[in-house]
Amino acid sequence: MHDSQENELRLVDFYGRVARKLRISVLDKCNFRCNFCMPETPEWIPNEKILSFEEISRLVRIFAGFGVDRVRLSGGEPLIRKDIEKLISQLTEVEGIHRIGITTNGFFLEEKASNLKSAGLQSVTVSLHSLKPERFSFVTQVNSHAKVLKGIRRAKEVGFENVKINAVIIRGYNDDEILDFAGMAYHEGFNMRFIEYMPFDGKKQWGINKVVSGEEILSRIRDRYQIVPLEREPGSTAINYKFVNGGGEFGIITSITRPFCSDCDRIRLTADGKIVPCLFDQHEYDVAGLLRNGATDREIAEFLKRTVKLKAPGVESLLKASAELKHVRPMYRTGG
Ligand code: 5AD
Ligand code: SF4
Repeated sequence: MHDSQENELRLVDFYGRVARKLRISVLDKCNFRCNFCMPETPEWIPNEKILSFEEISRLVRIFAGFGVDRVRLSGGEPLIRKDIEKLISQLTEVEGIHRIGITTNGFFLEEKASNLKSAGLQSVTVSLHSLKPERFSFVTQVNSHAKVLKGIRRAKEVGFENVKINAVIIRGYNDDEILDFAGMAYHEGFNMRFIEYMPFDGKKQWGINKVVSGEEILSRIRDRYQIVPLEREPGSTAINYKFVNGGGEFGIITSITRPFCSDCDRIRLTADGKIVPCLFDQHEYDVAGLLRNGATDREIAEFLKRTVKLKAPGVESLLKASAELKHVRPMYRTGG
């Protein structure tokens, strides 16, 4: 097939990047109040605007028709969406979707892990930004550390392979725990993900001085452990490493210092049905209106093609233009 013909069947932007992964925020609400995410007084989306499972599944079918084959559910906190297992099993039936994952704060994982597994969920990523209970409670504003750890271990017990743990590393908050996190991956076989702090904190207190670079994270780990890099999958947000003598792996998500926007293959959908092609760009495109006003699948497909085409080039070009990185929207609206 010709490139141009093939591109007709794909979601391709002006820079030639092809969308393959869809991240869906299933609701914006969260039982935590992480201070690098939530504003002081979040403005929640009214319930009637939240997409139904049928609406989400219909959109996923249309995305899958364009070759999008992976879906990740996020929030807010996806496990507080009622009957989330039902959505997962509906999505497993969509032809062309090969992998469904979730990014959760882990609070309800202990009780839900088994049902999530039976529903067909394949991968679990849990946010755990500190291994110190008081610090964790301070940042999430909920006494939650023990419960999240239990959730993480339960996920492993019920058979999720390669459970991932996300930690946003923030200067002066948890940068003294980098080796402890690495140790958890090394000793317990988890896949640890170190994320550079992004300017999407609800309280708008982000500053470049609070970002701990991937390079610094890596050099601290190298001082203690022997590690080797793994080959980077195209479109991956991270460079992954494994320990020479230990169990797990870790990845460093250098969203700020080395962003990998040039092969970004992700598209995001907010809980109220806005397509967000790029996290670092303010443009969002409302697909809920179409869904709710009788648009045909074909019309929606055309809309998706047009909106993905407009995807902004990303962080690399902002930095090249030496534009400042700005707060665009708080993380709880897109779930990362
Ligand atoms: N910068 C980087 N990561 C963030 N997350 C939440 N807020 C921020 C931020 N300002 C994390 C979540 C989750 C992942 C998807 O993004 O905690 O682990
Ligand atoms: Fe909730 Fe995750 Fe935001 Fe924390 S970072 S408030 S767990 S959505």
